[in-house]
Amino acid sequence: MAVEIVLPMLGVTVEKGTIIEWFKTEGDAVTKGESLYVVEADKVTTEVESPGDGILGRILVPAGVEVPVLTVVGVIVAKGEAVPDNYQPMADASQAPAPAAPAPAAPAPEPAADAYSAATVQAEAQSYDYDLAVIGGGPGGYVAAIRAGQMGAKVLLAEKDALGGTCLNRGCIPTKSLLSDVHPLHQIRKSAVYTGAGKLAANMTKMMQRKDEVVGRMSAGVEGLLKANKVTLAKSEAKFVDAHTLELSGPDGAKQVTAAKVIIATGSRPSEVPPLPVDGKTVINSDHALSLKQTPKSLVIVGGGVIGVELATIFSLLGSQVTIVELLPSIIAGEDPEVVAALKSALEELGIEIITEARAQKVTKGKNGPSLLISDAAGNERSLKASLVLVAVGRAPNTEGWGRDALGLEMDGPFVKVNPRMETSVPGVYAIGDVVGKSMLAHTASEEGVVAVENLMGSSRQMDYDRIPNCIYTFPEVASVGLSEAQAASRGLKVKVGKFPYRFSGKAAAMGEDQGLVKIVSDPELGEILGACIVGQHATDLIGAVALAMDLEATVDDLGEVVMGHPTLAETVKEAALDCLGRAIHKP
Ligand code: NAI
Repeated sequence: MAVEIVLPMLGVTVEKGTIIEWFKTEGDAVTKGESLYVVEADKVTTEVESPGDGILGRILVPAGVEVPVLTVVGVIVAKGEAVPDNYQPMADASQAPAPAAPAPAAPAPEPAADAYSAATVQAEAQSYDYDLAVIGGGPGGYVAAIRAGQMGAKVLLAEKDALGGTCLNRGCIPTKSLLSDVHPLHQIRKSAVYTGAGKLAANMTKMMQRKDEVVGRMSAGVEGLLKANKVTLAKSEAKFVDAHTLELSGPDGAKQVTAAKVIIATGSRPSEVPPLPVDGKTVINSDHALSLKQTPKSLVIVGGGVIGVELATIFSLLGSQVTIVELLPSIIAGEDPEVVAALKSALEELGIEIITEARAQKVTKGKNGPSLLISDAAGNERSLKASLVLVAVGRAPNTEGWGRDALGLEMDGPFVKVNPRMETSVPGVYAIGDVVGKSMLAHTASEEGVVAVENLMGSSRQMDYDRIPNCIYTFPEVASVGLSEAQAASRGLKVKVGKFPYRFSGKAAAMGEDQGLVKIVSDPELGEILGACIVGQHATDLIGAVALAMDLEATVDDLGEVVMGHPTLAETVKEAALDCLGRAIHKP
């Protein structure tokens, strides 16, 4: 019986390979385990062994041809057996047979609902007011509008509130402004050389003013960028009348506009949980926390996720007695356990109490402030009193108020359903960002916006969620990209982990920031970088180096060969890559 010779998986992210040389010719005897051919993919060259004994009956893919992994490239038959007719050789890659099985890490894309060429888009758009209308001016929507403007489309962006969305107005940027203000306080307090640090106090009013200035400047910057790219900004609420018609209502009244394509980028809002009703006074959400006028004496934060730990850091350094109540066994669930442990002890050193495996049951408002009833896994209850309770239990997509029903959009649970091209179930309508909920991060939304626009302008792009960095801005920072050690194990992948602690870094020691760790997860045979996590000062910047390496399909050898400046924290990334190979220089 014929035995198929298959081009193997060459790594988690490698999709194709080129056979460089066959060591055997048709008619040669082959034995199981003997090298048959050599294949080259990006950064990987490897010999492939025979899957069985017999005669090399037919070579289907000659040397020099690139084919997808899992393609059948040859057939082994028994002596005297004819090669079945269905195994026909091919001359070039255009005849590449379908892979024997789908690659596990790269699901087959859903067919595009409408693959337009740029010319088609423009021709069709002639009958509409705009080539593209974008609903929502957050980091998803405004980036999509700019990209479409760059590509020559006539674009309308509708935003009912301030430009920049949650990220710029109530999320990433304001929290980073506040965190930057409390960071010197943190450093001086833990420094061995300053005296009188205990007397230092931050001026909350000035912090909030500076934050508002930063936000205002960045939001004006977005408006300038839209103008520079000839995007028409409608300071209005947009509602679908049908897939190509939007009703705009704003300060200048209401009107209808038409567009060949529409992108929904309506974002998200803090999730509400019925037993914890937010009143904006004593029970608040992250939006309120970013506009507090005074530092609360005590603060109980429900949710030890990204928002919970960032806000805990800010208010703890400002002098609040902070308690985090988290339902799961750990804060920032999903991150590497070593990283979580390092952050947990750093937060506890700041004086933050962390209660895990505890459910916030209900909040009672009393004369002396709210009190939160929590229960542990065994059902034991206790009450926590505080000046304020902050609810940070996730975000909910904004799927109402823009005429979803007029479209009959297919949903994916609470989110708008999209395919990897960011197309919804309605032809010509795309959705991006938190409203599709794939990864509720500003940089994901921006990239989804670019993918959607390039597709609607005629390209063929798909979102790849495997290499999106996660960044948490605590002291120390936490960042990760790709697969963690546990995720790789759950996919059945063998891994080699390289670690480099900050305490061996000259730069980290000089900075007094030696509580940190870089961990790189790699494929033991191919050296492919599967993922990384970093806890430590500037982790959120350093992760960019690993994300870049992964995007360029660099191996740990490649990353280990990069010359990093000395002394820099970037050296820790290089050393962790070298550690995957057992060759870290500055690690005993
Ligand atoms: P999250 O999903 O990260 O964390 C919420 C936490 O609340 C979870 O750990 C959950 O187990 C816990 N929880 C839920 N119900 C609870 C209950 N009744 N009692 C106790 N704990 C409970 O959501 P978070 O922190 O609100 O952030 C929302 C979104 O915003 C996330 O998608 C996050 O990625 C994004 N974000 C990103 C930032 C960044 O990239 N630096 C910063 C802030 C937010």
